[in-house]
Amino acid sequence: MNNPQLNKHGELQHLLTTEGLPVRIMRDILDKASTFLDGEQGDIRKVPLLQGKSVFNVFFENSTRTRTTFEIAAKKLSADVVNLNIGQSSTSKGETLLDTVDNLCAMHADMFVVRHSTSGAAHLIAQHVAPEIHVINAGDGRHAHPTQALLDMYTIRHYKKEFHNLRVAIVGDVLHSRVARSQIHALTTLGVPEVRVVAPKTLLPSHVEKLGVQVYHDMEQGLEDVDVVMMLRLQNERMQGALLPSAQEYFKYYGLTQERLAVAKSDAIVMHPGPMNRGVEIDSSVADGSHSVILPQVTFGIAVRMAVMSILAGAK
Ligand code: CP
Repeated sequence: MNNPQLNKHGELQHLLTTEGLPVRIMRDILDKASTFLDGEQGDIRKVPLLQGKSVFNVFFENSTRTRTTFEIAAKKLSADVVNLNIGQSSTSKGETLLDTVDNLCAMHADMFVVRHSTSGAAHLIAQHVAPEIHVINAGDGRHAHPTQALLDMYTIRHYKKEFHNLRVAIVGDVLHSRVARSQIHALTTLGVPEVRVVAPKTLLPSHVEKLGVQVYHDMEQGLEDVDVVMMLRLQNERMQGALLPSAQEYFKYYGLTQERLAVAKSDAIVMHPGPMNRGVEIDSSVADGSHSVILPQVTFGIAVRMAVMSILAGAK
């Protein structure tokens, strides 16, 4: 089947989704990322791999981690980085997305990093641009957030070494989460034998089990004996109507507390893509506790984004 992310040589041309991304490419990205990290502190060296290239960060939705770590990653690769301030751009005067992209191409963009509230926006741009230009999806609607999932895979491999012996629980608002979809595809592709989703029925997509996950509605059952707990934010901005009685009620049944975490394995790690809502999906004592790897996720994200950009730039 034709894969819009790969070129005719089977190399990564764009990174749009983890769905259908070959395992060899996922492993290449994780291996390449590890070459950028030095020592226990995770220091990152500057390298000339993207010297003379221009990376355009085009974010139509808010971001702290993704936008900033892409900028740092591109600068560590010695690229020139342009951050388009969409609030002050001509899209606010009615210019179409593709007209904006055409104008940025005329400014000699080599790579676009795109976040958009509409699912499929990065695919649309990838289909539109010239073959020498690469597009990275930095989150589109509810659809996909592939670099988040890949940095999560890097984090899991860093702490757990292997994927084939793990039990992983993804907890929270799966329905609205592009992160959860990308995580599920990445975990199953990398060979995790047991992926659970834990959420109220109102926050799960219908037929979610077809993605290869086990469904739990009870936190204690869903977290029992897991190696990895991946928390999700309640995406209030994407909810139409009352899917939940209140944030307090949600925390009562689905908030990650130390008591609930105690049913997971004693060396379980706790992850969260951010931004985190303390007291809604996670208690501060867990977010800041000894099992939490939430801040290392962010640092690993720089190396993983460097890996993605350098692999794209090396494609024929
Ligand atoms: N995880 C994530 O996408 O965070 P930002 O929205 O801050 O980029």
